[in-house]
Amino acid sequence: MGLGLLLLIALGTLIFWLYRLNKEYYVLAFFAKRVKTKDGRPVEYIAPIADGRTIFGNSFDLIGRNEAEVFSDMRNRTKKMCRSYIEYAMGTSIFCIIDADNLEAVLNDQNLITKGMVYEFLQPALHTGLLTSTETAMGIKLDDMAAKGDRYRQSFSMIEKIFIRRFSNPIYWSDTLYELFGSMEDKRFLRDVHEFSSEIIAKRRILLAQEIKERGSSQEADDDIYINKKQRFAMLDTLIFAEKDGLIDHAGICEEVDTLMFEGFDTTSIGLIFGLMNMSLYQDKQELCYQEISEHIADDFSNLDLNQVSKLKYLECFVKETMRLFPSVPIMSRKTLKETELANGLILPPGAQIVMHIFDVHRNPKYWSSPEEFQPERFFPENSRDRHTYAYVPFSAGQRNCIGQKFALLEMKTLLIVILKKFIVLPLVDPKDIVFHTGITLRCKNDIRVKLVRRS
Ligand code: HEM
Repeated sequence: MGLGLLLLIALGTLIFWLYRLNKEYYVLAFFAKRVKTKDGRPVEYIAPIADGRTIFGNSFDLIGRNEAEVFSDMRNRTKKMCRSYIEYAMGTSIFCIIDADNLEAVLNDQNLITKGMVYEFLQPALHTGLLTSTETAMGIKLDDMAAKGDRYRQSFSMIEKIFIRRFSNPIYWSDTLYELFGSMEDKRFLRDVHEFSSEIIAKRRILLAQEIKERGSSQEADDDIYINKKQRFAMLDTLIFAEKDGLIDHAGICEEVDTLMFEGFDTTSIGLIFGLMNMSLYQDKQELCYQEISEHIADDFSNLDLNQVSKLKYLECFVKETMRLFPSVPIMSRKTLKETELANGLILPPGAQIVMHIFDVHRNPKYWSSPEEFQPERFFPENSRDRHTYAYVPFSAGQRNCIGQKFALLEMKTLLIVILKKFIVLPLVDPKDIVFHTGITLRCKNDIRVKLVRRS
């Protein structure tokens, strides 16, 4: 009887303690520290809290879901919440942004430049290179490395699949548990990726040494080449020179190369794939692009330069609208390092995640009329004037924006110009059949195919 009473008191005390603690922490979401407000109002006044699928907050919302379901679950949640919202999962509070005001505040906050959990999962692949393309950046022809290049792409795609598995199962959010139970397959794919970049660096070192030797008669020393700003060098050369000056080591160069390969090839090719798909689906708009290209670019491409490309205003709008509906990077994330007050009055605890749903901001009816419709004309100056600047951020903004955006736009436009000059692009897919997958970049289950018919 005495023992029973003691146990009852202990249990009562524990429940009371947990009840009190629950004000500070979402206890059932594994002690996720709660988001507060500056003026003490309930957070729901500023951002609604998403209901979880289990009593453990949102901890197990994505468990067992495949890549397509993870993607559609996120979109459905956005539609249901209508405003930027809060989740609590596995000891972490998460602020999910779907509006331009919050996006602007976060991307311009000097204290919010640390990338979020998503990138931590990529750390083994990219380490801490920028982010956490290409032949031009590396100064190496990749043609003779085609087979290895294919393996590199396949390995990166496997790393992405593994990343989704980790992302959707909160047990694997802990590095230790992941190392113990989840990371068995990673090693092989990581090795392939790192070997490929090491080989590129080794090849470029040899080529660069040769180039420097050949230029030797007109240049006095390596250092002069480095300083001579008129001389154009691939980005990789700059890193190799920096290594000579002790500013970076070999591992550092590998990280940067991995990052640029990853950032550059996938994002741009996704933009191009959807660009071609849209050309095929909207024949009238393809014709407008073609007319413009015919007017400004010679048939033998002899005048295809930056100046001429910049005259193709409709093509520019076409590419922009493609990246609105199909942003290559559909989600970005940041992490708070300390308690952080946001412009909207929310106070995020240290270690909170901020997930920016670019895909949803780009389709938010608050900023876009008929958001699902493809209308390049939205980007005409007269139609863009009154739009929130942060309603459209395919390359991010603020301190950690994309360093390759000008290059990427030029690359996509140049390829579209060359294709449209020679071919009519016809449709082979119905956009209604597209099933998106969650990935680090925008993925879909289907192959996006178009038919090219040579222009007579
Ligand atoms: C259509 C093509 C591209 C798109 C849509 C794109 C988009 C983005 C976005 C959204 C970010 C920010 C990610 C974040 O903050 O979480 C980013 C960062 C970055 N991008 Fe791009 N990108 C493209 C092409 C490229 C190319 C071609 C390169 C390199 C040549 C490149 C290099 C980088 C790097 C290094 C970062 C990291 C910057 C940092 O962390 O401070 N990107 N890109």
